Amino acid sequence: MSRKIVVAGLYGMSLLLHMKNFPAPGETVNGEMTALEAGGKGFNQAVSAARNGADVTFLTAVGEDAFGEKLAQECRSYGLSCMGSAVLAGEKTAAAAVMSDAQGESRVVVSAGACAAVKPEDFDFSRFPQSGILLLQNELPCGVNIEAAKAMKKRGGTVLLNPAPARKLEEELLRHIDFLIPNWGEALALAGLDGDAAPAEAAERLHELGAPNIIITLGGKGLYLSFQRQTPAFIEAAQVKAVDTSGAGDTFCGAFAARLAKGDSRRSAARFANFASGLSVTRRGIMQAIPFEGEIQAFMLAQTFGDVRG
Ligand code: RIB
Repeated sequence: MSRKIVVAGLYGMSLLLHMKNFPAPGETVNGEMTALEAGGKGFNQAVSAARNGADVTFLTAVGEDAFGEKLAQECRSYGLSCMGSAVLAGEKTAAAAVMSDAQGESRVVVSAGACAAVKPEDFDFSRFPQSGILLLQNELPCGVNIEAAKAMKKRGGTVLLNPAPARKLEEELLRHIDFLIPNWGEALALAGLDGDAAPAEAAERLHELGAPNIIITLGGKGLYLSFQRQTPAFIEAAQVKAVDTSGAGDTFCGAFAARLAKGDSRRSAARFANFASGLSVTRRGIMQAIPFEGEIQAFMLAQTFGDVRG
């Protein structure tokens, strides 16, 4: 039977804007609104895990406002349970502007609102499932992440941290993390290295900080895996033309957690999730880009053996 997944992270309203070129300071450019939808790294990752067949509980914090009131309905429509999420009086629900350009790059601004103000005591972590998988990001306060990670470890579970956006990693948090999943920029920032460094060097520094298993997502260059008791390895990216990379890291993390939950090995879960994010960047937007399990399987076959649709 699959292990249960808990994703604790940010939920908010995302305004997705597509433009030819990002505006320079002081410049206004024309853009196209591609969506106004529920988002947040946590929410996106929870959706990605659920689309891969996982049993997902999503924990977040919202304000007492119209968008916060829609949390339960949004979660239901994406197949998530949000029982135990916090509603904070006097706070606003998070909101984000997600911009993408013609090169497929993305830029994000987030106002975390209730997700910045929430405290560990606003949640009841004692309800975490035995031997579950907890997926965290850096959009909730570090103190919340630490208490959530401790609670999941106490229940014999596995803890994954996607350190996005990058911020100082608390030693106490790292002690309870099994997998650290940064992108290249985050890996460099956390390791205190500049862009000339090699992934192996960054991973080495991150191991020294206490992370036992590391996956560095390298965009078009694939993945660098550095796992305990395994020789480090690169996995190539899927062969695609990226049209929009918004949410690709979230797609990866959710799919990886879902495959671990099903009992895949670390490497095979990472390989699967690599195809999931590869497929997601061929689509515009975030929610509509996060792929379902069957689509990923078909994409893997087509990438591995050529187009099998005949
Ligand atoms: O990773 C993309 C996400 O980051 C967006 O959904 C936005 O809400 C921000 O939190």
